[in-house]
Amino acid sequence: MLVSLATFIADALLGSRYGGAEHPAPESWNAVLETMLGHRSVRNFRPEPVPDSVLAMVVAAAQSASTSSNLQCWSVIAVRDDERKARLSQLAGNQRSIREAPIFLVWLADLARNEAIGRAQDASLEGLHYLETLFVGIIDAALAAQNAAVAAESLGLGMCYIGAVRNHPEAIAAELGLPPRVLPVFGMCIGRPDPAKPAEIKPRLPQPAVLHLETYAAQPQAIETYEAAVKRIQQSEGQEAAGWIRRMLNRLASKESLNGRDRMREAIANLGFEIR
Ligand SMILES: Cc1cc2nc3c(=O)[nH]c(=O)nc-3n(C[C@H](O)[C@H](O)[C@H](O)COP(=O)(O)O)c2cc1C
Repeated sequence: MLVSLATFIADALLGSRYGGAEHPAPESWNAVLETMLGHRSVRNFRPEPVPDSVLAMVVAAAQSASTSSNLQCWSVIAVRDDERKARLSQLAGNQRSIREAPIFLVWLADLARNEAIGRAQDASLEGLHYLETLFVGIIDAALAAQNAAVAAESLGLGMCYIGAVRNHPEAIAAELGLPPRVLPVFGMCIGRPDPAKPAEIKPRLPQPAVLHLETYAAQPQAIETYEAAVKRIQQSEGQEAAGWIRRMLNRLASKESLNGRDRMREAIANLGFEIR
């Protein structure tokens, strides 16, 4: 039987995504899906700069994401300066990838731009100060960022989100000169992946664990299958077979495991958000 190259690639990517376990048949397939299913976080970069033209296209993709009520309540700061990246890295768990990536993007929930427009027109801005509007900014920033991630990957770049910019949100805001009512949501390292340190695709939960049909139904069996698959892969890569569950629970175990983000409510208030 002849198998087309596209089917072969699709099958390989789906196999990796589900850790060799049962996965959807690649009956619908295209280049966008190939980019998306090929995602892996890249934390090792080559030093070549990301040209302005590439940054502009990545941001155009970000701006093409849907945005609640077309409010466009997000911004992004592109940091290339080595010293600023070093300071940001220090504030974000001292992560080497921030210093190494030729460009570090900081994605922002930005209510300040729309607020300034309203103030200039003496308009009522009561709705700005509700938790819902902060959600809108955070959701918009996340949707834009994920479009940017896919765009960057489609151009052969690698990326990794950096949630640790929320470890010290006020200090990050000061470093980036953020006005009040702008929240750093996460950072994103972007650059050419270092071929000497390739990143692997990380398998996800089986679909029945996340895809509920009509009504919610927990699927403990799917989680057991996943745990076994993750342990098998870890063993085959010569790592400790720690599985997924232990790491997931460690991350949720305590206030300390939030790495400073336990004070997010206070940080948000300090950044000028009145949460009603
Ligand atoms: C919002 C968010 C924040 C993250 N923060 C970090 C981070 O601070 N450092 C890091 O190395 N990876 C970070 N990651 C990457 C995740 O660890 C990674 O996506 C996850 O382990 C799955 O691996 P994969 O992206 O290779 O599939 C973050 C991912 C997301 C979505």
